[in-house]
Amino acid sequence: MAEEQNNIQDCAAIIRDKAPDFQPKIAVMLGSGLGVVADLMEEVAEISYTDLPGFPQPSVAGHEGNLRCGTVEGTPVIFLKGRQHLYEGEGVSGLKTMIRTIKTLGVEVLFLTNAAGSMIASFGPGSLMAITDHINLTGTNPLTGPNDEAWGPRFLDMSQAWDKGLRQTLMESANRAEVTLGTGVYACFLGPTFETPAEINMAKAIGADLVGMSTVPENIIANHCGLKCVGVSAVTNLAAGMGSELLSHEQTLAGAKLAENSMAKLVRSFVSSPTFHL
Ligand code: HPA
Repeated sequence: MAEEQNNIQDCAAIIRDKAPDFQPKIAVMLGSGLGVVADLMEEVAEISYTDLPGFPQPSVAGHEGNLRCGTVEGTPVIFLKGRQHLYEGEGVSGLKTMIRTIKTLGVEVLFLTNAAGSMIASFGPGSLMAITDHINLTGTNPLTGPNDEAWGPRFLDMSQAWDKGLRQTLMESANRAEVTLGTGVYACFLGPTFETPAEINMAKAIGADLVGMSTVPENIIANHCGLKCVGVSAVTNLAAGMGSELLSHEQTLAGAKLAENSMAKLVRSFVSSPTFHL
């Protein structure tokens, strides 16, 4: 825990050093195949995760590992390209370091994006869906183990895990940008296997609309340290058993490509909404 704490202070100092006078209130975490969304900003600094002690070192194709500081229509934004997944087996220390570092820098809002399977037939590949709530089916929680009260409480309320006010802003931003945005509950499986059709039937039965292998650990860590979260899934495929194609990571990346333009429009519209202007 002490090492994590030192890393967070070191990472914040490295970022401040590379981007002096840069005061972002919002960070955007980009999911599989969505890295180009960061290209919409005017770059201030780009820092590889390898230069940030304790940051996750992503191992999956399509996941880069860099933190980019820039402005979008005048609003300062941090883009986090690359995250760590539970299925990588490296634990959650990297995710904690990354999220607590942006909190230390003064960020208040974390915009989480991901690639996901859809359980709603009318929202196929290329669609976007705002996350209204989640179901943690990973069998674990990133806050297990000793709690550091300096970051947040031992027992965390999760009834506002996906902030309603920010979601309202997001829906208005989608309208302004003329992007179709559905809404749904996201179920997070551990992975790395895709789900069986029976698992998808279960997820549907318990109230999920979207399925993936990320985002929920990030949301929990972020809420714990007082960051507000908003999230959007880029649908890359219909969930297992709903379509005729077999699922693969290549298909995830191809599906994300279909969604990346509208995701970029939505992110631009959201971060440039009055709430985030300095
Ligand atoms: N299941 C889990 N994760 C995913 C999927 C899926 O169908 N599509 C993209 N990521």
